[in-house]
Amino acid sequence: MKIIENNEKTKIHLKINGKEYETEVEPRRLLVHVLRDLGFTGVHIGCDTSNCGACTVILNGKSVKSCTILAVEADNSEILTIEGLAKDDKLHPIQEAFWEKHGLQCGYCTPGMIMEAYWLLNQNPSPSEEEIREGISGNLCRCTGYQNIVEAIKLASQKMRISAFQP
Ligand code: FES
Ligand code: FES
Repeated sequence: MKIIENNEKTKIHLKINGKEYETEVEPRRLLVHVLRDLGFTGVHIGCDTSNCGACTVILNGKSVKSCTILAVEADNSEILTIEGLAKDDKLHPIQEAFWEKHGLQCGYCTPGMIMEAYWLLNQNPSPSEEEIREGISGNLCRCTGYQNIVEAIKLASQKMRISAFQP
């Protein structure tokens, strides 16, 4: 078993949006800070008690709150952030739908909200309104009142079914 002392740094490898990264971190460093330090500043920090979801990313296929994971724990994992969703400057259907349905105002919750929607639609391609609201209940928004976010996710689900787009 490898033991890392308190302030000793250790090397970790992350695959983020399809690209390999290597960095050195103290064991206490949170994944959210490491992602931001590596340039993924779309990953936001909205609280210090794990409830807002602004830091949501997809880690090895699951949506997680990156503020509740130590970077060392994520060693050798694959991560998808909001920056990895668009392909060749073409927005992902969920991004398009948030734009078309006005599902954002200040935009601070939006990256986390979209990643959670991505996870939700991956699990359940045709969610009911109730399932959408339940699905994003770990993601807080102070601006929109959620209604247009729900509409955006409904539209995204239609777009993705019509185009058979695989998230
Ligand atoms: S920053 Fe609020 S849940 Fe992660
Ligand atoms: S758009 Fe401002 S917090 Fe959601």
